[in-house]
Amino acid sequence: MSNTSNTSNTNQGPVTVLGLGMMGTALATAFVKNGNATTVWNRSAGKADALVEQGAVFTAGIRQAIEASPVIVACVSTYEVLNELIGGAAAELKGKTIVNLTSGTPEDARALAGWAEQHGVRYLDGTIMAVPQMIGLPQAMVFYAGAQEVFAEQEELLKPLAGSNVYLGADTGAAMIYDLGLLSLLWSSLAGYFHAVALVQSAGVSAEAFTPFALTWIEHVITPAIPRSAQEIDSGNFATEVSSLGVNKAAIEHLVATSRQLGVDSDFSAAIQALIERRVAEGHAGHSLASLVEAFKQG
Ligand SMILES: NC(=O)c1ccc[n+]([C@@H]2O[C@H](COP(=O)([O-])OP(=O)(O)OC[C@H]3O[C@@H](n4cnc5c(N)ncnc54)[C@H](OP(=O)(O)O)[C@@H]3O)[C@@H](O)[C@H]2O)c1
Repeated sequence: MSNTSNTSNTNQGPVTVLGLGMMGTALATAFVKNGNATTVWNRSAGKADALVEQGAVFTAGIRQAIEASPVIVACVSTYEVLNELIGGAAAELKGKTIVNLTSGTPEDARALAGWAEQHGVRYLDGTIMAVPQMIGLPQAMVFYAGAQEVFAEQEELLKPLAGSNVYLGADTGAAMIYDLGLLSLLWSSLAGYFHAVALVQSAGVSAEAFTPFALTWIEHVITPAIPRSAQEIDSGNFATEVSSLGVNKAAIEHLVATSRQLGVDSDFSAAIQALIERRVAEGHAGHSLASLVEAFKQG
């Protein structure tokens, strides 16, 4: 894995951006600001107007857009849409490079890489771990996966998009696996916060009043538990002097029961309760919460 950190860039080569949704517009804007000759294409032409005012060139046909540059950065809603869009442009793409920053699944990425190889197109898969407003800023991170030489060729060109450009390796599906892992972390941690707020609101406490306690809890209890869990998971040693599954089994019963009693949806905590109970039933009551990873792997 390699990680370069810099948004300034001396590669001002031509680039085409396919897709001018919220994210594609941010990507194209970053290239224009960097001084790259930027050609843009979007199904709804009107979305290109502001970019054209800044110096981008809009082409009404996708084939023309592809012909305009040796590197095509794609960011549309799904791989299905992208496959459809470029499926008829294999001849124009031959010998060029597609950097695909559309989100999907690892299998979507591997299938498109296979199609690209069949048609003589160089392919780099990627996923953006940032919102459009962060594009071009040092804190933006993009994961890339695919042939190392294609990443090495395009690394300079891609620098204006993010401060952190992380190459994950030759498996084209790797960027999407990391993306989905981090999204799982995002949705489950925020859902935990929303569930907590629904509980405390039932006692008349506002979200804002509760939030400083949530932040302290995250900082001093949850954040340190993550590297500690990683060590336990990688070593396979789940012995704990912090908090056992047995203790958590009793505590989560209170959470599920109280949620139900208060009319707060309990499905989210009941799903975690089921994982804990399964591990305890399998004889792991003395193990740490990190051993739940084994329950996830039995899905
Ligand atoms: N926004 C974010 O915070 C964010 C963060 C990380 C990753 N991403 C990923 O970036 C990708 C784009 O997201 P976005 O936020 O830019 O979405 P968006 O604003 O909804 O834009 C979707 C883009 O896909 C195009 N599109 C959709 N269906 C099409 C079709 N049938 N034919 C041609 N073009 C079609 C749209 O064209 P029209 O303009 O003509 O509708 C538009 O360019 C997604 O895979 C998303 O998961 C987004």
